[in-house]
Amino acid sequence: MKNLLVTGGCGFIGANFIHFLFEEIGFDGRVINVDSLTYAGNPENLADLPESARQQYHFIQADICDENIMARVFDDFDIDTVCHFAAESHVDRSIVTPDAFVRTNVNGTFVLLELARRRLDKLNLFHHISTDEVFGELGDEGAFTEMTPYNPSSPYSASKAASDHLVRAYSRTYGMPVTISNCSNNYGPCQFPEKLIPLISLNALEGRPLPVYGDGKNVRDWLYVRDHCRAIWTIMQRGERGETYNVGGRCEKTNIDVVQTICRLLDDIAPPLAQGARESLITFVKDRPGHDFRYAIDCSKLERELGWVPAESFESGMRQTIDWYLTHQGWVDRVISGEYQKWVDQHYQS
Ligand code: NAD
Ligand code: DAU
Repeated sequence: MKNLLVTGGCGFIGANFIHFLFEEIGFDGRVINVDSLTYAGNPENLADLPESARQQYHFIQADICDENIMARVFDDFDIDTVCHFAAESHVDRSIVTPDAFVRTNVNGTFVLLELARRRLDKLNLFHHISTDEVFGELGDEGAFTEMTPYNPSSPYSASKAASDHLVRAYSRTYGMPVTISNCSNNYGPCQFPEKLIPLISLNALEGRPLPVYGDGKNVRDWLYVRDHCRAIWTIMQRGERGETYNVGGRCEKTNIDVVQTICRLLDDIAPPLAQGARESLITFVKDRPGHDFRYAIDCSKLERELGWVPAESFESGMRQTIDWYLTHQGWVDRVISGEYQKWVDQHYQS
């Protein structure tokens, strides 16, 4: 693994993965981060990479759907490994603008697969990052395994399902060395504050209403982002080519439980609010259309075959996450005000 193409490396999980590579693994190859810097891409997420990584790290602002530019990236950097994060990732946005999701998640993945196919002889691995949402929703019992049939509910999850199928087809048809990981809900530093945990944390900090969809009883399985990064790296290193691995935290929580935990944590460590306890800010709002009731991941294949287990509990992960947002007020202000995008406009040309 000498020349690793990371797509979507300025987003939440991609940026955490690049930090992980340089800070925990001591990765000694080149990392070529291609990101088009949509609203979710923020180069500031990588501004504090260790000095020693500077020689190895290359950033290119480009759209993965642009076949000509991506062909140059593959050739110029002699790419031998792909770790594909780039996607439109937010379910609510996919309900309003599904076209962007089909474009990036399906067409973009297709472009990368075609370019990887052209250099099959040099390709070590195409690792595709996916989601547990491809499996649809669970009732009160059971958990998704790698054998669970796909049954996506939202345009987001349908587009991710389509991309998974394409990746698997390239493995079966062309013998491409691929691995796929389907992960549950991540949380941690640098997550864009449209997703539940950062949105609620920042609203609760400032005393704004805390919107909870429906009755708040929907269940998600939470995983600290560094644990996801370690799972991805483990699969890339030792996962069997052609295989899929489920990744999850064995950490099921109702949404209302998550929101109450955040309120209590902030009541403990943040300045008190004039309104009193933060739970009083909870506001039940109209439910998300097609809202999946419950996700739960059975990750025993990854545990048994590759020895991965999460290092963080929900309590320790949430403390680190809240600490990060409290100590990165500048990041928060620039993201909330949209100033980070002005910075992008000044520094990069599309
Ligand atoms: P994110 O929205 O924070 O980041 C996505 C990144 O992709 C951004 O930097 C964005 O600029 C970039 N991007 C979008 N369209 C692009 C394009 N056409 N060309 C180049 N770059 C583009 O997303 P995330 O939460 O970090 O998710 C990363 C991956 O992990 C996605 O594939 C997502 O489906 C998957 N995933 C996310 C979670 C989660 O809980 N966040 C869980 C499981 C799987
Ligand atoms: O399961 C993995 C998926 O997790 C990833 O593939 C997606 O990229 C990621 O966005 C996430 O999807 P969710 O829809 O589960 O995450 P979100 O943070 O948007 O919502 C979590 C739960 O909280 C969900 O049941 C909806 C609810 N919710 C969300 C928001 C933004 C609220 O109740 N209020 C809110 O304001």
